Amino acid sequence: MKTAVIGLQWGDEGKGKIVTYLSRNYDCVVRYSGGSNAGHTVDYGDFKIVHHLLPSADVKKQKMMYIGPGVVVDFDVLIEEIDQIDKLLPHARSLLRISKQAHVVLPVYKELDEKIDKSRLNAIGTTRRGIGLSYANRALRCGLRIQDLENTSKTRYFIQELSHIWQTSIDVERILDELIAKYNKTRDLLIDTVQAVRTLKDKDLLFEGTQGVLLDVDVGTYPYVTSTNCSSTGIQSGFGYPVQLDQVFGVMKAYTTRVGEGPFPTELKGEEGEKLRKLGGEYGATTGRPRRCGWLDLVLLRYAVELSGCNSLILTKADILSGYDKVPVCVAYKFKGKVLESLDNLELVDQAEPIYEIFDGWKSLESKEFERFVTKIEKEIGVKFSHISTGPRVDEILKI
Ligand code: IMP
Repeated sequence: MKTAVIGLQWGDEGKGKIVTYLSRNYDCVVRYSGGSNAGHTVDYGDFKIVHHLLPSADVKKQKMMYIGPGVVVDFDVLIEEIDQIDKLLPHARSLLRISKQAHVVLPVYKELDEKIDKSRLNAIGTTRRGIGLSYANRALRCGLRIQDLENTSKTRYFIQELSHIWQTSIDVERILDELIAKYNKTRDLLIDTVQAVRTLKDKDLLFEGTQGVLLDVDVGTYPYVTSTNCSSTGIQSGFGYPVQLDQVFGVMKAYTTRVGEGPFPTELKGEEGEKLRKLGGEYGATTGRPRRCGWLDLVLLRYAVELSGCNSLILTKADILSGYDKVPVCVAYKFKGKVLESLDNLELVDQAEPIYEIFDGWKSLESKEFERFVTKIEKEIGVKFSHISTGPRVDEILKI
């Protein structure tokens, strides 16, 4: 069985907890894209694990974790997270493998990430984790792969070249020593992609999406996106093998959030937005930035479901809306006098005027009102819910 869990909005849909829960039915959770720009806390009840890079496998159930070649690895974050799981559960690190062909995020990438974003006429609002720089350098063929660290002179050459290309002064010997020291700490966990594929290809794999379809570099709200195919299309290259997916779970929040800049038709400004932000605890897990909040947008969801190949929906954070008297949902856009229920591309999104249908609010997730909300989404999207998350802990979930 090969399954993907994909975010259907702009990330932060609560995928981490869902992946941890679902991982119990799989052998291994695979991260295939992004880097430490992702971030979430998984609440096991008796302890919590903060993830940026480590796949959200249930470590209590001894599930394997694999970081594929499509991920960019920040060694500081990686080592911190390995130490974290190792303290909680002895030998948990032995559950992890990392592709040697994954690229390394250098500290200077983060500085350049910030510098570039600040120099733009319209900032993207990146997480400053050096993600764009890592993928750009990979494409420019001046990126450093983990495997290159096996060869000190090659690594020194690479750092010197990088300093020339980006015209930035780097203390080559210091960076080199630091990188080699960090590499040595993780050496026992490294594996060639081909070896990982040989071991994993016939196993039950759960591919953990990062961010969401609307932040995908090809089909998202470009240029206000991340630098990878964080949707399901990134799985094959990010894992390094032509995977046939049996199932694609699309995770959606009962409302919408976005961090960073870019269009957001249903955004709530002022007090209304602040109320939802506080109720949902909507602050970036990686940067701490307040997330922009707004109502559910079915036009964007239809688009994300179609392009990700999603065949099962998972709803999160509907409990946050409990107590609202009325819950508006955007069912179509008005654009130049026309009503649009689905989009051919996202160019129009920043000029779209949402058309809302107002639902009666619910007091609990067992109520008739909530059932009506769920049924309406299924009908509008044409895909059924398989699970509904009822709270922050891993086990707070209903299977439908
Ligand atoms: P980058 O991925 O750091 O280059 O940031 C590009 C855009 O993606 C920015 O708008 C970020 O706020 C957004 N972004 C990146 N990672 C996440 C995430 O995990 N959740 C939500 N937004 C994200």
